Amino acid sequence: MQHIKNQDLIHLNTFHIKAIARDFFIIENEQEIPLLLNSKDLVQTTPLILGSGSNILFVNNPHRPIIQLAFKRLQILERQSDYHIIEVEAGMKWDDLVRWSVMNNYYGLVNLSYIPSTVGAAPVQNIGAYGEEVGNFITHVHIYNTERQRFETLSHKECSFGYRTSIFKTALRGKAIITRIRLRLPTKPQFNLSYRDLHFLKDNPNLSLWLLRLTIGKIRMTKLPDPSIIGNAGSFFKNPIISPEKFSTLQSRYPQVPHYQMPDGKIKIPAGWLIDRLGLKGYRHGNAGVYENNALVLVNHGNATGKEILELSRIIQSKVKQAFDIDLVPEVNIIQ
Ligand code: EPU
Repeated sequence: MQHIKNQDLIHLNTFHIKAIARDFFIIENEQEIPLLLNSKDLVQTTPLILGSGSNILFVNNPHRPIIQLAFKRLQILERQSDYHIIEVEAGMKWDDLVRWSVMNNYYGLVNLSYIPSTVGAAPVQNIGAYGEEVGNFITHVHIYNTERQRFETLSHKECSFGYRTSIFKTALRGKAIITRIRLRLPTKPQFNLSYRDLHFLKDNPNLSLWLLRLTIGKIRMTKLPDPSIIGNAGSFFKNPIISPEKFSTLQSRYPQVPHYQMPDGKIKIPAGWLIDRLGLKGYRHGNAGVYENNALVLVNHGNATGKEILELSRIIQSKVKQAFDIDLVPEVNIIQ
């Protein structure tokens, strides 16, 4: 275990916001978790677990101690003819797992290629892209429950996965340190081409996991800025889910509004589309801005503070509320 005092977080968050963590710990194996939590350094505090820093906004220097998990082993637990069960430790980079799955001919995770995340962070907001969500493949999540002070295993059902949410954002928020996830990965070809920009691959005789990964990489490049060039955390807001009544009012004003029917009858609207309708692409607030190619992404034009990004997000929320009577909820974790 390492304990670093006054760790600069600028390279540990993809917004590249300057912030200092007074106490920063790197844990090398899961047995160190209870040792650290019961040590005098951490007793009576709620630490913050930092993954790849790609879904977080530091508004101030965090008061809470920060823990990074550095264990990243991958094991195949079970081999059946049409699926294998894989267990992966929390500290592995998400895309290292996806690349490994593609190299070894496992289907399923490929649509989640290139998402900046760690394996342990992936179930928290049930990362999703291009018609797929990680929850569709997770059978179990191993955690350390900081309240009960013990290791526990949650089944898929107990994780309560939903659109950009899970039990780790609700009942277990701040109480669970995810240490490992268990996945059931299909070994027989199955491609999810349900996302509109992937339809063109349907009749391609050369369709393969590698071709799909390459295509997803290309789509992402056109829609999402590379955080190593311009600081950002992907989608800043969740896509709002509205009632059929509110949707028909919106559709009567904008017959072309893109929308997705939810299983419960409600309708999901792309937040980026709403923000774009207000002409806010490229809008700036100090050093913070709306990305010029995608209105759902807020960017740091250089030296932006967390406060500036937060203020920009509030300006957008109030403009969207005024124009459409829709509440936008941040997808990014805001650390005040
Ligand atoms: N749109 C606009 N203007 C914009 C942005 C989008 O009109 O500036 C329209 C698009 O034309 C399209 C619709 O909005 O009709 C949806 O856009 P897109 O397919 O790019 O997806 P999204 O809703 O903006 C979601 C996820 C992304 C994920 C993509 C692809 C959320 C909050 N975001 O974005 O996830 O990559 O779908 O599946 O659900 C992330 O979570 O950080 C993330 C990038």
